[in-house]
Amino acid sequence: MSKRALITGVTGQDGSYLAELLIDRGYQVHGVIRRASTFNTSRVDHLYRDPHDGDPSLVLHHGEITDGSRLTSLLAQIRPDEVYHLAAQSHVRVSFDEPVYTSDVTGLGTVRLLEAIRGAGVDCRFYQASSSEMFGAAPPPQSETTPFHPRSPYAAAKAYGYWITRNYRESYGLYAVNGILFNHESPRRGSTFVTRKIAIAAVRIKLGLQDSVHLGNLDAVRDWGYAPEYVEAMWRMLQQDEPDDYVVATGTALSVRRFAEYAFERVGLDWREHVRFDPRYVRPTEVDALVGDATKAREKLGWTARVHGRELANIMVDAELSALRGGLVEQRRPSEPVTAGVTEW
Ligand code: NAP
Ligand code: GDD
Repeated sequence: MSKRALITGVTGQDGSYLAELLIDRGYQVHGVIRRASTFNTSRVDHLYRDPHDGDPSLVLHHGEITDGSRLTSLLAQIRPDEVYHLAAQSHVRVSFDEPVYTSDVTGLGTVRLLEAIRGAGVDCRFYQASSSEMFGAAPPPQSETTPFHPRSPYAAAKAYGYWITRNYRESYGLYAVNGILFNHESPRRGSTFVTRKIAIAAVRIKLGLQDSVHLGNLDAVRDWGYAPEYVEAMWRMLQQDEPDDYVVATGTALSVRRFAEYAFERVGLDWREHVRFDPRYVRPTEVDALVGDATKAREKLGWTARVHGRELANIMVDAELSALRGGLVEQRRPSEPVTAGVTEW
């Protein structure tokens, strides 16, 4: 019998890479997706097999992280060995516009899923997608012992998710872990996160499809890693003898400005000629610098990041170039409104 894993947020960047990894390791993966009037499975479509051709390795179920009764029925039906809770309203800037919704999905979503596990009486291991955003104003380097100082509704919601996960571990003996992941990116990153926004813009400007891109705070420093490597760390956390919490990071500091410099250089352009400032992208409170100390993950999980700053920028720009040349990337400008009045952060 193959192991069964349940992934919430399977249609997201991390969910898609994690589903690939688990299927490669012989798991049957069950993913929760939201019902939408348009298709939202493009990141996992390549993993889908017609169930008429045999036992599928990826099974998708409709579900909402705000719907506790649905989560309980899914747990009871699937009875997974491992649960990876990745679903979230994950955009920090958007969380300032929608603080209550973000708290509900990103914060309370975690306790709904933990209660569903208890309610359904399932014996499984649980991964919580915690975030370096929880450190917020605490100066780098940040490790598992750094106190949290959240600087956004998103970060406050993630801090709740972190503590409720620990509480279920301590109260009920659940094998529950927090992966405190620093920023990780890829060609599958949502196009409103800054690295992907920059990569798309650099390529489109190179190809003459747009002239400039508008950004906010260029001084912010992040520790950007490569998403496929980070889902390996998630899996390793659930294979240990004892549950614990881990920081996952490269340890390399890079500013938004420097990332833009690398991305534009990759296509032979000078970023200073194309990047414009737009105050709309400045956040009410900013997280100035996140740089992780992943010593514990290296020592206990045997995990280290291989891809760092410039190489990551190259991977993302190259992927954008080949996708755009292949006609796979949408043509609209990433920095302009999708529909009137809605800013694409
Ligand atoms: P992402 O690309 O934004 O994916 C988020 C996923 O959550 C999507 O599948 C989304 O579904 C789903 N989702 C959102 N709201 C939902 C709801 N109400 N009910 C059910 N599903 C819902 O995020 P990611 O970058 O893969 O990150 C995965 C997780 O790690 C998130 O919890 C994020 O906060 C956390 N994290 C990410 C990073 C990072 O740098 N990427 C770092 C630390 C922590 P749709 O496709 O339908 O929108
Ligand atoms: N999105 C965006 N758009 N960010 C910009 C822009 C812009 O036009 N201009 C400057 N920035 C700055 C932001 O102010 C922030 O300091 C930095 O670029 C990174 O922003 P994002 O890429 O949106 O990521 P994030 O660091 O806020 O959050 C991501 O990483 C967290 C882990 O630290 C998300 O993936 C979160 O879900 C994740 O928890």
